[in-house]
Amino acid sequence: MDLSMDLQWTIDRDRCIQCGACVDDCPFHILEMRDGYPATNPKRVHHCIRCQHCLAVCPTGAASIFGVNPDRSLPLPESLPSAKQMEALIRGRRSVRFYKPEPLPSTTIAGMLATVANAPTGKNKRQCLFTVIEDQESMALLRRETMEGLRRAVAERRLSEGLGYFRHVVTAWDQGRDIIFRNAPHLLMVSAPPTITTPDADMLIAMSYFEMLAATMGIGTLWNAMIRWAFSVIETDMFKRLGIPEDHVKGYTLLFGLPAVRYHRTVQRDEAMINRVRLS
Ligand SMILES: Cc1cc2nc3c(=O)[nH]c(=O)nc-3n(C[C@H](O)[C@H](O)[C@H](O)COP(=O)(O)O)c2cc1C
Repeated sequence: MDLSMDLQWTIDRDRCIQCGACVDDCPFHILEMRDGYPATNPKRVHHCIRCQHCLAVCPTGAASIFGVNPDRSLPLPESLPSAKQMEALIRGRRSVRFYKPEPLPSTTIAGMLATVANAPTGKNKRQCLFTVIEDQESMALLRRETMEGLRRAVAERRLSEGLGYFRHVVTAWDQGRDIIFRNAPHLLMVSAPPTITTPDADMLIAMSYFEMLAATMGIGTLWNAMIRWAFSVIETDMFKRLGIPEDHVKGYTLLFGLPAVRYHRTVQRDEAMINRVRLS
């Protein structure tokens, strides 16, 4: 079988300056120079890891693979934030626990997820499934069902010692405080098929990128471990209820929405712990 057909590799000879950068950068030597132009090596195409480096490294936008139009890529490096901006983002993103009630436009959320689908994965394919709640009725229902499930777990003394905290969560709920969902208008949960090579890393990277992208857009996020713990003690299979395939590896949850709190400076964490090694 000629797998080069599957790669849809093309080189625009009017643009190609025959520099060989795509050949040199291909991590699995799928490309070779033939008659002065880069071409796929049919004996090696099955090693392609779909990284698209050939398209990204081409200085003139002559290379295309998988039918991708290089003119639709963002130009680099001018599109990158500066190191100072990245520092401010990493130090300045915060866990947001107070949200405005109004939801984000669906198109905003879709745009964010489209960007996050470009986060690194072990296999260069869109592998994570992003489960998102956009509408407020669903958020309210999820909140209610979770809290009622917790209430039953408390009443039936089903909470393990480590989860005794949920008693206070239910009391707070009765007093009008939502300690788990923090009244956030949206929820994002990530999961991945069990067959992929690096599900845990892929999911955490995707969620971290989502968090940072959100911060640049003035959107607050909250990593949430409590939701997962709550789901583990209530009788309803909430993952199933949310339409997450049963066999998926379940990742983390982020709450998000417009923040009702504003931070004016960074916090100051401990120094980095560094193990500098010099072997001899
Ligand atoms: C993996 C992870 C899980 C978290 N789970 C919760 C949670 O369930 N509820 C909550 O209020 N905060 C949660 N947080 C937020 C942390 O408590 C938060 O990072 C910490 O308070 C420091 O605040 P900062 O993120 O603004 O620096 C979580 C954070 C991480 C990274």
